[in-house]
Order: sequence, then C-alpha cells, then structure tokens
Amino acid sequence: MTTLRDRRDDPADPDERRRLSRRSFLGGGVAGLAAGALAGGLGGAAIAHARADEDAPADVSETAVPFYDQTHQGGIATPPQRYVVFASYDLTTTDAGDLQVLLARWSASIAQLQAGRNLGTVEPSRPSGVPTDTGEAADLGPNALTVTLGLGPGVFDDRFGLARHRPARFDHLPELPSDRLDPKLTGGDLSLQACAEDPQVAYHAIRDLSRLARGTAVVRWTVMGFGRASAGKGQTTPRNLMGFKDGTRNIKTDADLDQFVWHDGTDQAWMQGGTYQVARKIQMNIENWDADQIGDQHAVFGRTKQEGAPLSGTQEFDTPDFARKDASGELVIPATSHVALAAHENNGGLKILRRSYNFTDGMDEYGQINAGLLFIAYMNDPAAFVTMQTKLGRSDRLNEYISHVGSGVFAVPPAPATGHYVAEPLFG
Ligand code: HEM
Repeated sequence: MTTLRDRRDDPADPDERRRLSRRSFLGGGVAGLAAGALAGGLGGAAIAHARADEDAPADVSETAVPFYDQTHQGGIATPPQRYVVFASYDLTTTDAGDLQVLLARWSASIAQLQAGRNLGTVEPSRPSGVPTDTGEAADLGPNALTVTLGLGPGVFDDRFGLARHRPARFDHLPELPSDRLDPKLTGGDLSLQACAEDPQVAYHAIRDLSRLARGTAVVRWTVMGFGRASAGKGQTTPRNLMGFKDGTRNIKTDADLDQFVWHDGTDQAWMQGGTYQVARKIQMNIENWDADQIGDQHAVFGRTKQEGAPLSGTQEFDTPDFARKDASGELVIPATSHVALAAHENNGGLKILRRSYNFTDGMDEYGQINAGLLFIAYMNDPAAFVTMQTKLGRSDRLNEYISHVGSGVFAVPPAPATGHYVAEPLFG
C-alpha cells in the first residue's frame, strides 16, 4: 500500500509532488512581495481538483478544493468539513491601498493553503532566518481546506472611500430580540472562515493568515468549531450539542442555492456570485438542557431526538405538517417550537443555507459547561436572517436554553479568476 508519506517522497511522481508538497513554495515569503505580482504569479499553480463530498477519495487528507476560477468562494456550498476556525478582524489602517494589499496577499495565500502548500519556508537555510510559515501543517495534506473571505459593513464606511460600492441591503445587523451580545465577540471589518477535515490545518490557515495581516488588521474574535452541525448535500445529518439532528431541512439543491444564497449582482455587480455570511456565537445552557424531560425537548424543536422526525411524522425526512392537531385540539408541532417558527412554510417561503459548527470553550467562571453552536448561515439578503431571528428571538421555546453572545455580518464576494484577488473590482 502506498502511504501518503511514500508518495510525497517519490520524486518520480510529479503529479503527486505538485499536489501534496507543502515545501517552501513562496521562497522568500509572502510578506515582501507586491500584491499584484503575488496574486498574478501564483495563479497558475496547479491544484488538485476534488470536492469535499461523497465523491472525495477515501483518504480525505489528500482532497484539495480549488480556489481560483470558481463561480463562488469555497466553504459555502462545499459540503461542510468536520472542523472550522472562524475569525473576525478589525482593520487598523485607514489606507485603501493597505486593504487592497491585504486582500491580494490573503487571496494568493489561501490558494496555496487550499492546495496543501506552506506559505513560505518552515526552516530557513540561514540561522538568522525567521520561518515564514509556522510549520504545524507541514506534514498534513490539504484536508479539503476552504478559507472563505468576507468584508464587514465597516469596509464601506468613510475610512476607505469605498462607500459607493456598498450594496444597499448590506449594513450592521440591528439589535434583535433576546440578543445578549458581548461587544468583544461582535462585529469586525473582515472575516475568515477556515474549514478542513483536520483541525490543525484549519488552525494553521487562520494563524498564518493573521500573521500576514500584521500592521493592517488584528483579530477581533475567533471560534474553533467541530462536528459540523449542519448537513450539506449528500451528507448524513450530524447532531448539535443538544443531541438533535441538525440540517435535516437545510438547503440542499442548486435551485435553492440560486434562489436564496447567490447574489445576482443587482445593485452591485462585484457581488454577483457572492453571498452574505451571518455568524452568531450561541451559548447553550447545557446543564439545564440535560436536566430537561424528553417530552419538552421534543416540543422545543418540534422534532424527535433519536430519529429527528417532525412530531407530525415518523421519519427524519417526512414533511412537517404544521396544521395537524391531536385529539385534544393542540397543534402536534407547537407553534412556538424552533422548526415551526423557522420553517419556510411559515415565513413566506424564506430559506437560508446553514453551515454551523459545535464549539466548546471549556468551563465558565461558575463551573458550568461553556459550549454551544457557532451558527453560520449564507443568504443573498441579510434581511432573511433578521426576519427569522426576530421571530425566533421573540418566541422560540429554545430561548430558555440558549443565548446569542457573538455576532457578525459579512459580504462574501465571488471567487477570483487566476491572477486576481477577492474583491479586486472594489479598487478599480
Ligand atoms: C443554538 C441555536 C440553534 C440550534 C440548537 C438549532 C437547531 C435546529 C434543529 C435541531 C433543527 C431541526 C433540523 C433541521 O431541519 O435542521 C433546526 C432547524 C432550523 N433552524 Fe435552527 N438551531 C439554532 C439556531 C437557529 C438560528 C439562529 C436560525 C436562524 C435565524 C435557525 C434556523 C433554522 C431553520 C431555517 C431551520 C429549518 C426549519 C424547517 O424548515 O423545518 N436556527 N435548527
């Protein structure tokens, strides 16, 4: 059997060499290069074309998701990988040129990382050299890494002269019912969502991209997540930390992606093929939930726990019947259950693409489990989230067991063509 290591060390296999080597591809390092030259010069690098879905090779560590020349950025419709590191950044510059250089450097670097390459040298030849790549992913494959880059509403304020490019529907989220947001976990001018099948690959991406941002942007808040808590197309439904299947009625068809997720470029052509990302750090009162009776847990979600069936049916994928009543005239799926409030049937047909992850931050200062859901959703109008969360925040039975403590909204441009970078048309 050929192991990953054997194949990497086999100089006679140029395809594998190109695909898997994390050797010092950028030589002297990213930071010293001019943005345009960097983005252009790296564009032609070959990337193994594979997808993180059911067609992926058995050894998922070898799966690479292409970055350039895609209609959309990865990490949105890409079937959710098992781990995420999400980071929001504050820009520390007011110079549009600095922002432009950062976006170009990040784009070129993301292309390298997604191909499974280092961002420069892990071990400089001279003792005085400082490694340009931190090295912790050096022996790992691409692991289906995707890094999704978003722009916060602040990018379009008066700092950078970009206000004319702000899509009309894009602004800071309003305060929503039941919000208990911590300012330290809220907002941000830029976001990076790194997803991978190996947590260290996702961590390495955020660490080294944050390093590249020095002098231009600083991390504002981060969440490390695991156990993908939203099923994508072709995946079995995972469970959130409340033990319920999550993602059963997520968007799974291209027709729904076209209708509800991808931006059609109306009002701002540079957003065509892009989307909006809403990230919410939602804490769970796990101890209270774990003490709750199963009958109440069912009523909270409107679904059964083991099978994940709507309370009006018996199988996970049965269509919920929100009008069905029991013998005593009560709705079988309570009107204030999570799914009754969130379902498209009860929201004028509205749908969003959920791409959430479980997280844990250990114990809090009261000795309680500090864990929850990093809710990430994509939609072509942030108002979809506002409409849903206004309803959920007011009436959801789940509110007894959760608190929204972090929040951010970001415009996610389409993927760049080879030789270009994310959001380049803003600087034309
Ligand atoms: C900790 C917080 C949350 C938990 C534990 C949670 C869990 C669940 C579960 C178990 C389901 C049923 C299975 C499924 O169809 O996926 C579900 C459905 C759904 N959730 Fe959440 N959710 C949370 C927050 C949110 C938020 C903040 C939103 C949007 C604002 C949202 C939107 C939806 C939607 C649209 C559905 C599908 C409803 C349907 O069509 O039946 N959820 N969620």
